[in-house]
Formats: sequence, C-alpha cells, structure tokens
Amino acid sequence: MATGQSCYRDEVGLRVNLSVAVQCMRQARGILAGEIYEDENRGLNMVELKGLVIDNPKEGIFRVHRSAMTSSEILQMEQERIFNKCWLYVCHESEVENPGDYRRRNVAGRPLFFVRGSDGKVRVFWNTCTHRGALICRREAGNAEVLQCFYHAWSFNNRGDLIGVPDEAGYGAGFNRAEMGLKSPPRVDNYRGFIFVSFNPDVEDLVTYLAGARDYIDLVVDQAEEGMRMISGSNRYSIKANWKLLVENSLDGYHVKPTHKTYFEYVTSLGIKTGAVQTAFGRPARALGNGHAVEEHEGVRGRPIARWSPLFGEETKEEIARIRARLVEKFGEQRTRLMADVSRNLLVYPNLIIIDSIDITVRIFWPITPELMEVTAWQLAPQEEKGELLARRLDNFLTFHGPGGFATPDDVEAIESCQAGYKAEGVEWSELSRGMHREAIAEDELQLRAFWRQWYGYMLGLGKVDTKDPLVRERQPVAS
Ligand code: FES
Repeated sequence: MATGQSCYRDEVGLRVNLSVAVQCMRQARGILAGEIYEDENRGLNMVELKGLVIDNPKEGIFRVHRSAMTSSEILQMEQERIFNKCWLYVCHESEVENPGDYRRRNVAGRPLFFVRGSDGKVRVFWNTCTHRGALICRREAGNAEVLQCFYHAWSFNNRGDLIGVPDEAGYGAGFNRAEMGLKSPPRVDNYRGFIFVSFNPDVEDLVTYLAGARDYIDLVVDQAEEGMRMISGSNRYSIKANWKLLVENSLDGYHVKPTHKTYFEYVTSLGIKTGAVQTAFGRPARALGNGHAVEEHEGVRGRPIARWSPLFGEETKEEIARIRARLVEKFGEQRTRLMADVSRNLLVYPNLIIIDSIDITVRIFWPITPELMEVTAWQLAPQEEKGELLARRLDNFLTFHGPGGFATPDDVEAIESCQAGYKAEGVEWSELSRGMHREAIAEDELQLRAFWRQWYGYMLGLGKVDTKDPLVRERQPVAS
C-alpha cells in the first residue's frame, strides 16, 4: 500500500492530506467512530474528514486528531468553511470616537478599515481602492475628512463616497462615480458596541448567531454607567502554535493551577487564600450554542466593578461600594453578583475571547500558518472609570494578561510546547473527554468540546450543530 499519498479532494474540491490520520485510524478501526475508505482504483488509503474528531459521549471518548493543528490543507479549509462563513469580530465602536477617526485592521487575512463618518455612523470598508486596488488606509489610525489614495489620488469622503478623480474627463460615459465608492464586506453589524463582519452574505443575523454568548456580552456592557470604551493601545504578539490551541487555553480551567503556579504563589504571598475562594463558587462551564462557550470562576483579587479587595487600597472602598449599589439598584442582587463577583472567560466563536475579570481583556487571534498565530488584545473599561480604579484595571491587563505578565508567558509556553510535541507524531490524538461523565466544572473540558463540535460541524459542511454534551447536566451559573 502506498504511503504518503493519503490525499483526496472532498465534495467542494479541496485537497485533504490526512496521511497521519490514516495510520491512526487504522489503529482505531473497530473500536471508535472513525471510518476508513480504501480506494481500489487509486490504491490510496483515505480517511474522511469526519475521522478527525471522535465524539462518543456514551463511552466518554472525545479525541481530536493532532493533524487539525498541523495541516496546511486544514487551515485552508478553515478559511473557507469557518472564517468565510461566520461572524468575525473587527473592533469596538469606541475606537473611533470622533467623526473622521479611522483604524485599519486585518480580519482573517483581509485588509479592512473602519471609520466614523461625519454623520456619526461607523462603517467598515475593504481597505482597497476601487480604482486599481491600492490600500486606502496605510496608517494604523488617524483622522480624516477625506481619504486620498496615494497611487492616483482618487479621494473618498469618510462615508466612503468617491468625491474626487483627477482628470475625470479621461473616463468615458460608462464611468459612474457614484458606483465607485469604497465597498464594505457583505455583512456588518454592531452588538452593543462590538462590531462584527461576515464575508458570507447569507449568514444569519448577528444576534441569532451570538446565541447564549449574547447574555455574557450584556454582563460586560451593563457594568458601565456611561457605556464602555476601548482603552487606546493594545498588546500584540505572536505564538508559534495553531490558533485553536489558544481557544482551548483561553477556556481551560484545568491548566490554571499547575501552569500559573508562580502567580498563585505570589497571590498567596500577599495573604490571599486562593484555594478557599476558588471553591466558593460553582465554577460552571457551559456550551452557549454555535460553538460559543464560557467558563466561570470566583475572582481572587476583587474587581473595579464592583468587589473591593484590600489590594485595591482603602481609598477605593467607598467608590466601589457606590458602584455596587448602583448595579444592585438597576439589576438586582443576583445579576450584580454575576457581574461583580464572578470572573469568566467567554469564547465568541470562532476566535474572540472576552476575559471579564479584574480587567476586561478583549483578545482576537488569527492564524498565519498552521503553526503560527498573531494575537491582539485590548482593554475595555467603563467610560466613567478614572483614577485608581482604572489604574488597577490597566495594571492587571499589563501584569497578568499582558505578553510579559504573570499569565500569558506561561500560556504561550504551554501551547507552543503542545505544538512542538505534535512533531513527535507517535501520539496522534489529543484527549478532551474530561468531565463527560459528570456535571462539568471549569476544570473540565466541556467548553472545549463545544468549540470542537462546532469546528467539526463547519468543517463537514453541516453548519450549526448541537454543541452540548448530551449526557452532562450543566452546572447553573449563579451562586447563591
Ligand atoms: Fe487608488 Fe489608483 S489605485 S487611485
């Protein structure tokens, strides 16, 4: 039997190279749910794409084939079947506060920019000139009433209309300036300040897409009295690992204590009993539909909104109490507790992570190759937050979630280590079955399975699938 030829073209003609999976599925035949096909005519072993995830709740088996993290063909399919199909996060509307403010951004490898027009509306455009393609927006950010292409000097106002063409008389009757304005992606929508695009004109509306994640975004946005703003500046770094490993890591409560041991030693040295606090809350993990997922835990160090800790200093006590009272009055005790006492890591599928804790980190990451991703993280804060509370928030963003902080270097090292380990090839599957037999907690992998089930559904062309563990009762998110 030929080896190294385990490629086939699937129903949409994409080339799938699954040579590693073939060997593993040989081992698994008769035991697990994967399927092996022999193509007599071509003499190739071929495994259907559906062999990449093994999901057997009855037996408590959930495995992902590691080629999903190393294959260029799979990354190409992800681009077509996930990033070209889903809603994708672009920006927060507060990043362009004033008329004319603009910023550019790459989304799934596509150059975009967003600008607040003189009419106050935020629009997202493809960052390409309608003449012959040059980038319109060549700076990271700025303010302009008119954006002029540097190549032949076509000019567009900040609403996207083409308003100036040098020597326009050189064009004939077929040239219609009104049709040559800047173009937007097929779908652009805004949920409570978070702006998303989709390159799929037929995608469902954003609110429906967000499913259960919507309420968790509300929990973030409702913390602010005067609305949220993205603090200027960002953390940007790359990780030598597949993008899906950061999804896993961001939702993974299991790694926290062993991987971030230094952090817990530090917190303990400050006199905070982390163990007792961490068991006080139910620590639920939940699948929220459409691949979105969340894991929650009781914070160990207080929050600017709105849980005072001695670490915040006596001078902040009154202000935090006032904020908490406002929340209770508006939302009641139980929802306030969810906002102020509970920290959470939320995945908005496929690649937006909102870490709602001492700070609110908004993190997005894009694959560059199967083994390299670029990460950008911003800090969200209430418009009205100033002084010591804002300083505490920004300090945590830098010293815990920042690329040189307590958490991120540990996480980067861990997932780069996984990626390096895949090169061994002798162990072909990753095991994600933790908590399949019990009421799942944040240290289990229910939330990771939710991601993978939807990944699998999109990759198979099935669209939305049921991402819940069928035999697991999810823990309720509210502690009394
Ligand atoms: Fe922009 Fe020619 S490419 S004016």
